[in-house]
Formats: sequence, structure tokens, C-alpha cells
Amino acid sequence: MIFTIISSTNRPGSSTLKLAKYYQQRMAQKGVEAGILSLEQLPGSMIASDLYGKRSEQFKPLQEIVTQTEKFLFVIPEYNGSFPGVLKVFIDACDFPASFYEKKAALVGLSSGKYGNIRGIDHFTGVCHYLHLNVMSLKIHIPSVRQELNENNQLFKEDTLKFTDEQIDKFILF
Ligand SMILES: Cc1cc2nc3c(=O)[nH]c(=O)nc-3n(C[C@H](O)[C@H](O)[C@H](O)COP(=O)(O)O)c2cc1C
Repeated sequence: MIFTIISSTNRPGSSTLKLAKYYQQRMAQKGVEAGILSLEQLPGSMIASDLYGKRSEQFKPLQEIVTQTEKFLFVIPEYNGSFPGVLKVFIDACDFPASFYEKKAALVGLSSGKYGNIRGIDHFTGVCHYLHLNVMSLKIHIPSVRQELNENNQLFKEDTLKFTDEQIDKFILF
């Protein structure tokens, strides 16, 4: 089974990538290897090339990872009350149906504000359903993310650990 964690922003120094790495480590502790695809890896020129079918050499290895992946875990920050536009650009640039059709996904939302990207996770769930990408029911929302990660970029609060571990365990079995 091939697992990939999508760090769903290209913002340098993002909390999203820190949280994606935390999930990767925690999955490894549970015996499951997952790769990380950070949207920072996207070629800057992709809106002129890959978005509408002119596949670039830089995007090809990313498409290969997506095509091979069977289970995705999307870590998605809240940007202006929804998921980041660059995530939709990425989805729109990926091949259909080889990328997501009849595969599986788990979703994690985070924000610096109070809501943990509840609305963005709902919006993205709609996109996943359109693509026939089956979304796991248990979704996790992490508001006030700067108070959730310690100096080693680890989650440490008891209830957050409980819910993220439950999500990871269910995702492995999903
Ligand atoms: C373009 C942009 C829009 C944002 N909009 C929101 C928002 O609507 N609500 C919120 O709580 N935080 C918002 N934030 C803050 C992010 O939630 C915060 O940076 C958090 O750390 C997750 O994003 P990151 O992975 O880029 O760090 C926004 C950040 C950016 C860069």
C-alpha cells in the first residue's frame, strides 16, 4: 500500500509542512512508511504549462508519485476561510482519472485562528467526492496551531494526541 501525505501549501516555513512531518513520524512509529509531497515542490511555471495539459518535465515526477499513491493524507491550512488556491491548481493539473479516482483520502485542517479550517475541509471534501476520491469520515481540525506544536514541532496536548492518533490508526486500516 503506497501512502502519501500532501502538505497542501507552497508557503515557505509553513506550519502545514511541520504538521505533515509530524504525521509522517507518527505513522512510521506505527509501522507505516508514508512519503511527503509538499506543494513547495510545484514548479512556479505550472499555471502556464501543466494546468491545461502541457506537462512539464518538473511536474512529471510529482505526477508519478500521485499516480502510484493509493491513500492520501491531505494536511490543509485555512486560507481566507477555505483551502489554499494552490491546492486546487495542483488537483486541476493532475491527470484524470489516474491520480485520485476510486482512491482513499484522510483530511486534516489547521489554522492560526479559531476554526481549524472546518469550512475549507468541507469545501475540499466536495472536490474529493466529485473526483470519486473516498474521504474517511474522521477529519481532524487543529485551530490555534502555534499553540499546538512544541519547539521540536511535535504535537503534545493530550486531547490533540488522542484524536490525531485515532485518525492515524483508522487511516491505516481505511
Ligand atoms: C493567504 C493566507 C490566508 C489566511 N487566512 C486565514 C484564515 O482565513 N483563517 C485563519 O485562521 N488563518 C488564516 N491564515 C493563517 C494560517 O492559518 C496560518 O498561517 C497557519 O499557520 C496555517 O498556515 P501555514 O501552513 O501557511 O502556516 C492565512 C494565511 C495565509 C498565508
